[in-house]
Amino acid sequence: MRIFIYSTHPHDQQTLVVRLEQAGHDVTATTQRLEPATSGEAIGCDAVCTFVCDEVSATVLQGLRDAGVKLLIQRAAGVDNIDLAAARKLGIAVARVPEYSPHAVAEHAIALLLSLNRHIHQAYQRMQRADFSLDGLLGFDLYGKTAGVIGMGRIGRCFAAIMQGFGCRVLAYDPLVAAEHRMAGVRYETLETVWAESDVLSLNCPLNPDTHHLVNADLLKLTRPHALLVNTSRGAVVDTSAVLAALRSDSLGGYAADVYEDEACIFFRNCSDCGYDDPLLKDLLREPRVLLTPHQAFFTEEALANIATATLDNVAAFSAGQRNANFLA
Ligand code: NAI
Repeated sequence: MRIFIYSTHPHDQQTLVVRLEQAGHDVTATTQRLEPATSGEAIGCDAVCTFVCDEVSATVLQGLRDAGVKLLIQRAAGVDNIDLAAARKLGIAVARVPEYSPHAVAEHAIALLLSLNRHIHQAYQRMQRADFSLDGLLGFDLYGKTAGVIGMGRIGRCFAAIMQGFGCRVLAYDPLVAAEHRMAGVRYETLETVWAESDVLSLNCPLNPDTHHLVNADLLKLTRPHALLVNTSRGAVVDTSAVLAALRSDSLGGYAADVYEDEACIFFRNCSDCGYDDPLLKDLLREPRVLLTPHQAFFTEEALANIATATLDNVAAFSAGQRNANFLA
């Protein structure tokens, strides 16, 4: 199969590209992002492989269809960047990798939470400049506190299990989990109750029309003032301006995120020489009680290997005229 891979980075070359080539596929990889201007580059290819920053809108899908593409393989779990309805209409099959390592993402959420709470990133910077003082580094014990999890799927459940290990009481909000599938030892509540009772909050739901700006000014009014919010889901689950306002009015204790609502054209690139034009992101990065990472929660050796394996499986299924459980369209 002829496969065009967008938004590649050195790690994709070492894992995904090599393995697809070993399986006999004809692979072209580009560092360019998929967008209207680049969709034509896949001309003559059977499949394109995309990542979370690629724009897979109806316009782009039409361009891919015109170029002869029949299969879109997303090398990620989230598909909020893909217009699935348009893909179905155009007859382009869409597959993703729903589970490659929920542990990778949950563990990164924990890393963010611990760093934010105990000011590890600030302490590291201070010690580099020989400042060994403790002022401003005060945190709180997680033991005995309440952790709220929004979205109790694969990642949310891993996060909840780790928090139970810390000795936390865990509350959860997930309107789609049936009572018989609820996790033991976790109390499922309304969003408002979880929000109002939690000392730490983790977002682990997908981005969709129901969850867009789920965390907004109204919900943030319910937050315990010292509470820490961790977002490893998608940036637009949070109204970033509302989070900044809550931090500045001392009604939220801190915000740690691996994602940002307008990250698509910025994250995964080194902008240290060329800069970037996003005043809101700059404001966020200036705020001392904010800790951001560049969408790296998935980035472990195990996750990359599993993504490559599942992507190969998806291609093999399509080549054999089949659809496995990873196909959404
Ligand atoms: P999953 O599909 O296993 O779980 C998502 C859960 O969210 C489900 O239980 C679902 O019922 C729940 N949910 C749906 N709508 C909801 C709503 N309105 N409110 C609360 N809960 C709701 O997905 P998984 O694997 O746990 O991943 C969750 C999200 O994490 C992905 O959709 C993706 O956006 C993000 N993610 C981020 C990564 C990163 O590197 N930062 C890597 C992988 C995933």
